[in-house]
Amino acid sequence: DKKRDFEGKTVIVTAGPTREAIDPVRFISNHSTGKMGYAVAEKAAERGAKVYLISGPTALKAPDGVIMIPVSSAKDMQSKIMEHFDEAQIIIKSAAVADYAPATVHDHKIKKSGESLTIELVKNPDILYELGKIKGDKVLVGFAMETQNLIENAKEKVTKKNLDFIVANDLFTEGAGFASDTNVVKIIHKNGVVEELPKMTKLQLADEILDRIIEIKRT
Ligand code: C5P
Repeated sequence: DKKRDFEGKTVIVTAGPTREAIDPVRFISNHSTGKMGYAVAEKAAERGAKVYLISGPTALKAPDGVIMIPVSSAKDMQSKIMEHFDEAQIIIKSAAVADYAPATVHDHKIKKSGESLTIELVKNPDILYELGKIKGDKVLVGFAMETQNLIENAKEKVTKKNLDFIVANDLFTEGAGFASDTNVVKIIHKNGVVEELPKMTKLQLADEILDRIIEIKRT
């Protein structure tokens, strides 16, 4: 009775935060736990897909049946995606990629000295934007976490990054956000349709996302 509707499909899922090194002991990162991406990877594997889970550092264990590819920085993540890009029909980018990384990585620990310290940051590649340019007929799904103007910002990302749809949540909504086992999201499709989903577990949401992807693949 379990759906096996992803049989024969290869899916890349990215999850977790990235770490951008400052020196050998420090990095810049974010609060992503990887729960949403791991839930998607778990469900896709359960539904029969070959799943590459390309994940930044998390405390989670790899779901059964997925091919786990651990990465650290945004650039690592991008190169691992590109290794498997041709093989995949579906890419789901739930990782919280750092937008900026330190301009230089110090070879030695930065020592404490003056009253202030400035670290210059440079823009990371926008992985999803780059994928959007070479997407072809692959299905490309993004995530967006916002603290204001959720729909407006998410719509802009769907267009700019050439996505099929984006899963958007407001960080300040009760039951949504980082460490939670539940999420409350809106799905914004490339044709502008906005679906408001009720609060559900991240595993349930994973199935909702996969249902919409298979629908796109059918049409
Ligand atoms: O950071 P932003 O809100 O633009 O993220 C939206 C989507 O873009 C997410 O799916 C995220 O994984 C992706 N992204 C990316 N590379 C970046 C920044 C974001 O792939 N440098």
